[in-house]
Amino acid sequence: MGHYCLGVFSGQALNGLSDRPRIPALTWLKCRPFKISIAGTAVSKEPDRIFAQPLAQVPDFAFNEDVVRVFPDMIKRSVPGYPTIVENLGVLAAQFAQPDSVLYDLGSSLGAVTQALRRHVRTDGCKVIAVDNSAAMVERCREYLNGQNSMFQELLPVEVIEGDILALAFEPASVVALNFTLQFIAPEERLALLSRIRQSLLPGGALILSEKLRFSDPEEHALLTDLHVAFKRANGYSDLEIAQKRSAIENVMKPDSLEEHRERLLAAGFSKVVPWFQCLNFASLIALP
Ligand SMILES: C[S@@+](CC[C@H](N)C(=O)[O-])C[C@H]1O[C@@H](n2cnc3c(N)ncnc32)[C@H](O)[C@@H]1O
Repeated sequence: MGHYCLGVFSGQALNGLSDRPRIPALTWLKCRPFKISIAGTAVSKEPDRIFAQPLAQVPDFAFNEDVVRVFPDMIKRSVPGYPTIVENLGVLAAQFAQPDSVLYDLGSSLGAVTQALRRHVRTDGCKVIAVDNSAAMVERCREYLNGQNSMFQELLPVEVIEGDILALAFEPASVVALNFTLQFIAPEERLALLSRIRQSLLPGGALILSEKLRFSDPEEHALLTDLHVAFKRANGYSDLEIAQKRSAIENVMKPDSLEEHRERLLAAGFSKVVPWFQCLNFASLIALP
């Protein structure tokens, strides 16, 4: 069945070249499903059914066009606390943003964090740089942000870069967000990346790092893994979807423990690591230069 949306058109557009006055008219148009977010930007709400049917062979997970289409639904139903983390990341960032500096959203996907930064940061002269190496994500992210730009002139300027964050030449930054991105970076590259982020951070700034966690205590790990499965079931995923997604992602996403994150951040030159949020096996940390 098709999806319909309400559109507003001038009488001229609807009635061809008639001489009738241009009266705005409402009409139902066949279109892709969408919703309007509070920021006024249309964001896909196509449901995630990617792993709903049995697959003969489950391919490694990739941030491709299929995932992009369902990503807002997928991340909300899979990551406990995601909406709270994203919104509050904007609130926290506003406390650390320094005048005339850059705010980085690394692994920006569809720009949810970038949009939270734009909603909350009011510091003069800041600009957001969003970086992702998925062409499909970047294309859709730019569409969403362009929609925002045309409606809200007062928002922070944003540059969206398609590229590898491992190859990025960092500008002096007051806020760096790595929201569920570091876990997709090869473990042997993580310390060097965090060290470069630390070097780019201005005094008074902060790195905000959100990740899925593993736990060194086997019982704690098993309990929180089971509870995460219960969270996904409660959000409508079947056991088949949960199992197939797990085998798709286990080769590409490698979570660390809280202790590993803390030690690595200190080794990268950060002076203080403060967890500010945890829901089941997902957490977010503030790391201070
Ligand atoms: C789980 S998503 C991040 C979610 C997003 N930050 C949010 O809050 O909605 C991980 C993102 O990191 C991107 N990514 C993974 N490795 C990357 C790399 N080396 N350079 C740039 N982006 C990368 C992926 O393409 C994907 O869009």
